[in-house]
Amino acid sequence: MKKKTNPVWGGRFKKKPSHLLEKINNSISFDYRLAKEDIKLCKAYTEALVGAKIISASENKSIQSNLKKINDEIENGKIKFHEEYEDIHMNIEMILKKKIGSLSGKIHTGKSRNDQVVTDIKLWVKEKLKSLSKKISRLQTIITMKAEKNIDVIMPGFTHSQNAQPISFAHYLMSFFEMIKRDKNRINQLIENMTECPLGSGALAGTNFFEIDRVLLAKKLGFVKPTENSLDSVSDRDFLIEFLAILSIMSIHFSRISEDLIIWSSSAYDLVKFPDTLSTGSSIMPQKKNPDSVELVRAKSSRIISYLINLLILQKGLPSGYSKDLQEDKEPAFNAYDTIELLIDVMSEVIEKIKLNKEKMYELSLKGHTTATDLADWMVKNLKISFREAHEKTGKLVLIAEEKNTYLHKLDIKTFKLIEPRINESIYNLLSPENSVKNKKSFGGTAFSQVKSAIRRARKKI
Ligand code: ARG
Repeated sequence: MKKKTNPVWGGRFKKKPSHLLEKINNSISFDYRLAKEDIKLCKAYTEALVGAKIISASENKSIQSNLKKINDEIENGKIKFHEEYEDIHMNIEMILKKKIGSLSGKIHTGKSRNDQVVTDIKLWVKEKLKSLSKKISRLQTIITMKAEKNIDVIMPGFTHSQNAQPISFAHYLMSFFEMIKRDKNRINQLIENMTECPLGSGALAGTNFFEIDRVLLAKKLGFVKPTENSLDSVSDRDFLIEFLAILSIMSIHFSRISEDLIIWSSSAYDLVKFPDTLSTGSSIMPQKKNPDSVELVRAKSSRIISYLINLLILQKGLPSGYSKDLQEDKEPAFNAYDTIELLIDVMSEVIEKIKLNKEKMYELSLKGHTTATDLADWMVKNLKISFREAHEKTGKLVLIAEEKNTYLHKLDIKTFKLIEPRINESIYNLLSPENSVKNKKSFGGTAFSQVKSAIRRARKKI
């Protein structure tokens, strides 16, 4: 008699799942993305079953070659997955069954979908971390190239969104380099931390007397060693949370740089220009050219953060051991990855193609008394007064400039001398943005010489 219940776990059931259960229970619509990892896992596990004398050498041969065939067929889009088989694990097993018959039923010996799925995702995360790391390196190269070309471009640096002190545009760009350098470090650290293989933990308690060599299994799958505790292994998703935390931090970096560029491209600032290819128009205002590319980078970073929150909330209330809730860990991870990949690509193109309005940048750096600190520092050095005293005197001069509706560097020498008689003409040179930048010679500062060597050092770290 043909059984109507689930072909994998239906033994103790009299009735098959309702359509509603099928709808809420199936994960193949998204976990098909784990096919490559699942097949790799099945191949390694089958080898382990040979070692355990559950599968013979000739059976192994047939299973291995058919699993490879399935892999190729999936890659070529020749396989149709079925919702009734719930997930990628059961779909692969059923496809194998179609090819080799009941022999396929041996490969799940001692294995549970609980240790299987977590191993699959771990393999997937490791792979994706590696490709993200490569993409970041590419963006780092683009940043250093753009920075190198714009070392002597002076713009105001901002604090509180107010003009603060003049900086080199390359210094600004290299700040972005540093942010993503940390992202890459976090990525590499996570790869290094993901040393333990959960496969062989079974459903929760470990595998029975089959003598599965977990050490060998771990090595075959590219891990260093097996996990220590089978109960912990089947519900550990810490690495996935860490993955999304790294992606979230990265997306915050992209969002903040986007925010700068959006503001700076506005007519009020007019410091940068987006190319047509990265802008859109308005359906009503014919003159408009909007920086949608980076607005969407800013917007989509919120999604990535929400996927992290999604995962955290998903897990906080779970008891130990596997619960089906954990099936819901995949979509946030997949979505977050797809989104960050897009964001890196868009940011790379934006940095490469964005045009600078160098004159406007310089002009703006002259506004807002941006070199006032340089004057205070000059007084400390040349007049041997305390910084507080120098700050007070400079503040008074700024106030006079404000009242006269002019800038500090435009006050005449008499006015300077009114507040501090020992000030002389040399301060005009000092108060220029060029000099202000040139004097920031501290390691990591914005002096052209420093920026140059920062770029040189950065290049070696890509
Ligand atoms: N599709 C499931 C998931 O993604 C696989 C594990 C199912 N385990 C179980 N005990 N029903 O989590």
